[in-house]
Amino acid sequence: MLNFAAFLALSTMDSAFNLIDKNKLPKHIAIIMDGNGRWAQRYGKPRVFGHRNGVKSVREVTEASAELGIKYLTLYAFSKENWKRPIMEVNTLMKLFVITVSKELSTLNKNNIRLKAIGDLSSLPKETHQALLDAMESTKNNDRMTLVLALNYSSRWELTEMAKILSKDVSQGLLSSEDITESDIEERLCTSTFPDPELMIRTSGEHRISNFLLWQLSYAELVFSDTLWPDFKKEDLYECILDFQRRERRFGMTGEQVVKS
Ligand code: IPE
Ligand code: IPE
Ligand code: MG
Repeated sequence: MLNFAAFLALSTMDSAFNLIDKNKLPKHIAIIMDGNGRWAQRYGKPRVFGHRNGVKSVREVTEASAELGIKYLTLYAFSKENWKRPIMEVNTLMKLFVITVSKELSTLNKNNIRLKAIGDLSSLPKETHQALLDAMESTKNNDRMTLVLALNYSSRWELTEMAKILSKDVSQGLLSSEDITESDIEERLCTSTFPDPELMIRTSGEHRISNFLLWQLSYAELVFSDTLWPDFKKEDLYECILDFQRRERRFGMTGEQVVKS
């Protein structure tokens, strides 16, 4: 019979965690947290039951990412298209964001995690916006990992805003239209201070981007997991990272060139 300590040692030995090459971690992981509604449906519960349980996965994945040494984790929490959902669901989600951000604040600070948010934040309900501003202010000096919440975010909105800023800067003579570079665009996106994600995970078996980081995901590896978000735990994240590490990232070059470099 195995004693408890031996059992624990064996079970961690089996974990995908041990197979991850800690020197080849993605610096930035972005996740489309999908499947809360279907998860709730499986239990015969209303969709918001899924959202509440999804928060537990947010906690697990944030913790696992920080433990591994991931520097940036972006979580897609609410898209601009999600306003089309039933008003009850939207209201509950907005309240859930306030409660969660306030409740997790001390843990974020304890774990030295900085909170940031991208999206059309000023159009969020006042309390949701304020809770985010307070949490961002309180965690601004933390430097172990940056947790980015994409809230009231959509990539086409972000790119349209970027175009407005860019054209204003051109009309004010700050730069000329012929000289616009990729960096000029990047500097005017909500993500200007973050590196591009190398790994994008979507849960729940859906194989689409749903208006998420269209510019920034240009060269990301896409990993699709069938697991519904409330069931997505540390081990699932490790498996996705392993999948990422097994891939050859060519960036337009040939396989031979990549092997040599
Ligand atoms: C993702 O889960 C959470 C949000 C979009 C807020 P869903 O609510 O989209 O769950 P499904 O896709 O309907 O199962
Ligand atoms: C994408 O999920 C948005 C978030 C996870 C916040 P959706 O469930 O809204 O995406 P679609 O509508 O199925 O593409
Ligand atoms: Mg969905």
